Amino acid sequence: MSNFFSSSIGKKIIMSITGLFLILFLLLHLSINLLLIFSAEAFNTASHFMATNPVLKVMQYVLAAGFIIHITWASLLTLQNQAARPIKYNTNSPARNSTWSSRNMFILGSLIFIFLVIHLSDFFYVMKFGDMAGKSDYELVTSTFKIWYYALIYIVGFVFLGLHLSHSFHSAFQTIGLNNKIWMKRLKVIGTIYLFIVCIGFAIIPLYFLIPELF
Ligand code: HEM
Repeated sequence: MSNFFSSSIGKKIIMSITGLFLILFLLLHLSINLLLIFSAEAFNTASHFMATNPVLKVMQYVLAAGFIIHITWASLLTLQNQAARPIKYNTNSPARNSTWSSRNMFILGSLIFIFLVIHLSDFFYVMKFGDMAGKSDYELVTSTFKIWYYALIYIVGFVFLGLHLSHSFHSAFQTIGLNNKIWMKRLKVIGTIYLFIVCIGFAIIPLYFLIPELF
């Protein structure tokens, strides 16, 4: 069993499973965050429920473990691949055989990690341990997005997320064994639809609060 976890395919399977779990989390996170646009009261109620419900409190630890395992295994796999191939091939043409995103998953993942650290210190940390200065959760998030450079950091973060996800969805299923040609095509389409919903959905939120401030 320990051989499985240390093998290259074992690491890839763990990354796929944690990646699919994070993909599901993003959909849930987006649905709650979209409440910001429709109702301050609904967002505050959902945010309070997410922070106090005992089952969801446990899920926060599962989520943190999902992120930590995904990031750690990605680093291990990248180091293992670099050690196995210290000299780059110049005989094949990577640009023709694969996409830019698929060749730069680790870099994109690292940029998303930086985004995540900024994001957690903006909201999660302040809500849990910081000084809310009498603000509600809704007021904290919306006042942040009214500052142009914060909104910009988030939109750039969503672009990185989009590029990372453009290779993630079908690739995760391929790794866990679903690599039949017809299903691969279908998964690429579903992955693209998911990618647009998530990235455009997230981007609308800072833009919705920033644009009225600019004019
Ligand atoms: C407009 C976009 C986003 C908004 C408004 C937003 C808002 C929030 C808020 C308010 C929290 C704190 C929730 C609480 O502690 O009760 C939070 C937590 C978190 N966010 Fe985001 N988020 C956005 C995008 C993202 C993205 C793109 C990711 C992943 C790449 C992400 C990952 C997380 C994680 C891991 C947590 C901590 C777990 C949790 O409390 O649910 N968020 N977010």
